[in-house]
Amino acid sequence: MLYVYLNGETIAREQARVSVLDRGFIFGDAVYEVIPVYDGLPFLWDEHMRRLERSIAAIGLCNPYPANQWLGIVQRLIARNGGGDQSVYIQVTRGVAEREHALSEPIEPTVLVMSRPLIAHAAEPVAAVTDTDTRWQMCDVKATALLANVLLRQRAAARGAYEAILVRDGFVTEGAASNVFVVNDGLVRTPPCSHRILPGVTRALVLELLRTHAVPCVEQEIAAPDLQRADEIWLTSSTREILPVATLDGQAVGPVCPGSLWTRVVALYAGYKAQCSGAVARDAARGTAGSGSA
Ligand SMILES: Cc1ncc(COP(=O)(O)O)c(C=O)c1O
Repeated sequence: MLYVYLNGETIAREQARVSVLDRGFIFGDAVYEVIPVYDGLPFLWDEHMRRLERSIAAIGLCNPYPANQWLGIVQRLIARNGGGDQSVYIQVTRGVAEREHALSEPIEPTVLVMSRPLIAHAAEPVAAVTDTDTRWQMCDVKATALLANVLLRQRAAARGAYEAILVRDGFVTEGAASNVFVVNDGLVRTPPCSHRILPGVTRALVLELLRTHAVPCVEQEIAAPDLQRADEIWLTSSTREILPVATLDGQAVGPVCPGSLWTRVVALYAGYKAQCSGAVARDAARGTAGSGSA
């Protein structure tokens, strides 16, 4: 049985109930975060917490808890759900109120934290398709109003693909639920942070690893036709890490998939994860708590 944290209580997931008037349910008036957990420890906790704080502020909510209280809630839930590798989902909605678009008074937010076992997927090459980015202008906020993303992913699935790579005004933005990297002639490119993309935690770590290891990379707008002549395309996200794209719109990507730079970056990523768990083990031996950020 899985447990969830809902507004101060830890209860069985089947028993958790939210009001029909919750603005998360009625309007999608809510933000969320997804954090991978390895061996009981949230990975890149500080980075995920910073993004949650940003999302909460971006929609004009007060953060219900300080960072250390969030960590306590999440750690207790991970333990209650059996530790190991999990995926933690945090959602904060504006709360419960009579249905009106604008509210005159702030209300108590609804806080939900869930976790479930992290399904280990092999990093096998995936199919992607391009599609028009039909989302709103605040894609940098991790909002639960994901109807466009859901429809785009569903259209991709109907075309036999795992992900939709989105194009707005002729330029690549990101995937429906991932960031995009494109490799041409040994140069790795990813679109710069803006309101058009979610600032992915995995994206930031991949960029940091590439820079640290002197792999040429830039944050730069990518014109849609560049996708067709890419040597490699990668999709990054917290739970699927770094996936190589084998086909785009039914055409093979590059001469070989996975490409050599993908193999390199995946090894760097795995090394970083191992370094984090080593650091946590050392902290534990010293009696200081750790959360998986090296
Ligand atoms: C639209 C979108 N972009 C990018 C990402 C990747 O972000 P992260 O690496 O922080 O998981 C996600 C993850 O769910 C996403 O939904």
